[in-house]
Amino acid sequence: MCGIVGYVGAQSALDVVIAGLKRLEYRGYDSAGVAVLADGSLAAAKKAGKLVNLEKELVAHPLPTGSTGLGHTRWATHGGPTDANAHPHLDNSGRVAVVHNGIIENFAALRAELAERGHRLDSETDTEVVAHLLAEQFSAAGDLAEAMRQVCRRLEGAFTLVAVHADEPDVVVGARRNSPLVVGVGEGENFLASDVAAFIAHTRSAIELGQDQVVELRREGVTVTNFDGSAASVRAYHVDWDASAAEKGGYDYFMLKEIAEQPKAVADTLLGRIDASGSLSLDEVRIPVSVLREVDKVVIVACGTAYHAGMIAKLAIEHWTRIPCETELASEFRYRDPILDQRTLVVAISQSGETMDTLMALRHAREQGAKVLAVCNTNGSTIPRESDAVLYTHAGPEVAVASTKAFLTQLVACYLVALYLGQVRGTKWGDEIEAVIRELSDIAAAVDTVLETMEPVRALARSLADKNTVLFLGRHVGYPVALEGALKLKELAYMHAEGFAAGELKHGPIALIEKDLPVVVVVPSPRGRSVLHDKIVSNIQEIRARGARTIVIAEEGDEAVVPYADHLIRIPATPTLLQPLVATVPLQVFACELATARGNEVDQPRNLAKSVTVE
Ligand code: F6R
Repeated sequence: MCGIVGYVGAQSALDVVIAGLKRLEYRGYDSAGVAVLADGSLAAAKKAGKLVNLEKELVAHPLPTGSTGLGHTRWATHGGPTDANAHPHLDNSGRVAVVHNGIIENFAALRAELAERGHRLDSETDTEVVAHLLAEQFSAAGDLAEAMRQVCRRLEGAFTLVAVHADEPDVVVGARRNSPLVVGVGEGENFLASDVAAFIAHTRSAIELGQDQVVELRREGVTVTNFDGSAASVRAYHVDWDASAAEKGGYDYFMLKEIAEQPKAVADTLLGRIDASGSLSLDEVRIPVSVLREVDKVVIVACGTAYHAGMIAKLAIEHWTRIPCETELASEFRYRDPILDQRTLVVAISQSGETMDTLMALRHAREQGAKVLAVCNTNGSTIPRESDAVLYTHAGPEVAVASTKAFLTQLVACYLVALYLGQVRGTKWGDEIEAVIRELSDIAAAVDTVLETMEPVRALARSLADKNTVLFLGRHVGYPVALEGALKLKELAYMHAEGFAAGELKHGPIALIEKDLPVVVVVPSPRGRSVLHDKIVSNIQEIRARGARTIVIAEEGDEAVVPYADHLIRIPATPTLLQPLVATVPLQVFACELATARGNEVDQPRNLAKSVTVE
């Protein structure tokens, strides 16, 4: 939440910062603002609403040109989305500007203290206190990095802060605790940002900052210290994708592009991890095999779409390894005093690697002695850094707020984890596992096949644009898929959409069925778990008898559903546990098209932000 950019170098800071903010707008779009240092003073502009409003403001009232600056795009927490609450915030002298992501929990006490000392605070935000405290500390220390360290020691909560001071015209200072901030290292120029996308057009060399660190950025170099002033150790890395990966590439929306990229994302996530003999090599999983052999429970923690991937992973882990596995909402996990010990393996799934709830859950797990394996898409992010090991998904940058390709790659990574656990523990594998491993190698092509047949799904979605409710039903792996379909529709189309386990229908939800209500049903394969298949076919008949308009997702060749399907969406046949990889795709397309038909902006749905860095 909130996108931050800082720049010092030879280019126009405003141009670099605005271009960076455009790439970070998915993090929040309640307001945007910039500040530049020029001719010994500080100039700032900010505007409520999307970045385009700020750009118009800058055309009407241009800022002077300078080569040091910062910018912010906001997801509002404290104070509504107004011009006054937009970042940057300045002190009363107008010489310090600061932008912030996170929540400063003790801001009320700090605000009262500042008011007593005669400061005038103009906004309702928690951030503004930092500008005033920095100004005070700078007067005493004469050094912005030192002022930042002193201020950070007084702050409670989660924060990324980036600040400039007119008296240090070639310096940008940043700080982080529990919120993301990465450094981009250029030649004669350096960058700070919430995410590498902001500076990827300029450099692919990045430095990951650790917890409670302050970074001082100058043209000629970067200095990182801990909050106590001691030298800090940091990790430099190379970003393995380029600027074109974070552009729309001819698509109207990032979401459409990301849906289309799924076959490649899936293939990239599998690449080099299964050898020709069907053996898994996951060298990155640096948890010793001896520890994995002793694991007696797996607990998966994640939020939203990643949680749905975790629900499917539970079924794969239990079925393929026979290790008991629970999947928990990360936001609930640590508050219920979970039972964990050194024989528990916690798998934390996160696209961004910055989701605060998941981060807090993994910290709690490690405190109890559990080993944590992250499944993550973002190199340099906090969750992998704080885990014992990480298995990266290779989805590439996901810019649309609604997760699509990250979900499919999380599933693939979780299947790999399940198979790897089975392999290192010597689980006796029969024909089923061999078939799964074979099918995984072909699964990218199956996803591609689904994408090629989506036109009827789009037409169907457009025809339902005036509906108020859509229900989703599934069983076994189809249940999390149903939940995911409903989540996509809620967040994009702003419709009432609910997913149910089809077996629960008669325990209540069937009362919702009325004439012409669209109900999407994810049908398990008639092969394999055929009992479930037959039961769900009965469920379809039950809802249809009560007037529902049935939209049935079923594998090729499943003729049993044909008489009861008002709309039939075909997916390729796969082993049961892999079906979500093909069954979810039509639901993503359905939600995206229906939202567009309702006039909604699919890349930036209302009230949402991509990376949820506050609890
Ligand atoms: C939904 C969506 C969210 C995220 C959730 C977790 O489309 O994108 O539900 O899945 O906020 O985010 P990560 O995976 O970054 O931890």
